[in-house]
Amino acid sequence: MLTVDTLTVAYGAIPALHEASFTVGAGEVVALIGANGAGKSSLLKALMGLVAHRAGKLSLDEADLRGFSTRQRIARGFALSPEGRHVFPDLSVQENLDLGYLGRDAAEAMRRAEAMFALFPRLAERRRQLAGTMSGGEQQMLAIARAMMAGPRLLMLDEPTLGLAPIVVQQIGHFIDQVRKQGLSVIIAEQNAEMALGAADRAYVLENGHIVLAGTAADLLRDPAVKKAFLGL
Ligand SMILES: Nc1ncnc2c1ncn2[C@@H]1O[C@H](COP(=O)(O)OP(=O)(O)OP(=O)(O)O)[C@@H](O)[C@H]1O
Ligand SMILES: [Mg+2]
Repeated sequence: MLTVDTLTVAYGAIPALHEASFTVGAGEVVALIGANGAGKSSLLKALMGLVAHRAGKLSLDEADLRGFSTRQRIARGFALSPEGRHVFPDLSVQENLDLGYLGRDAAEAMRRAEAMFALFPRLAERRRQLAGTMSGGEQQMLAIARAMMAGPRLLMLDEPTLGLAPIVVQQIGHFIDQVRKQGLSVIIAEQNAEMALGAADRAYVLENGHIVLAGTAADLLRDPAVKKAFLGL
């Protein structure tokens, strides 16, 4: 579905991502693992068109998306739940979700919100609560749900489990399983390799802006270099 060749990002003279090539299939969950500063967020921001980037190819179902604005990429089905959650603290859960829906069909917005409440029952109980007063885990669920309101085909999650309790990490894993069954493609960027490889079909390992390893999640879980660098084994 998504094909990317030689994607490069630099901030002025600072290189962040060097000629990354990768694919994501329809209904596939792909993990991006790497330490601090490896280039995970830069890669996702480049896909969203949020940072300047170059690529030999960046296409969705053969349509060339290079030169597309963020808005156009969202219209094609890209959505990002950014690092650090970024919910609107003074708005309610429901209002945060409504902002994530970019169309004009109120009934459709309500249908999508209900689908999110079914996937994240914690949010359903709190739909009128101000987002800023919720726990970190609840805010993360809301950030993901808000990205889903745009009705993406490719959902990108940037460090969705950072700092969260194991039970919440599990719930996010369960969410990914559910949406994958509905045919959604997911890219999950994580330092928590155990979580990401547990959720993913395939994975890429990023180091200093370079993809240094690629394979099935099962193979990478067994890879000695991955075990040593990311799994504490
Ligand atoms: N706006 C920016 N201006 C300058 N340099 C940046 C900017 N954003 C990121 N960088 C640099 O680009 C490199 C990659 O950063 P990036 O945020 O993509 O890494 P990451 O893998 O997401 O790290 P983390 O796990 O800490 O979120 C780093 O060296 C970082 O300092
Ligand atoms: Mg990051």
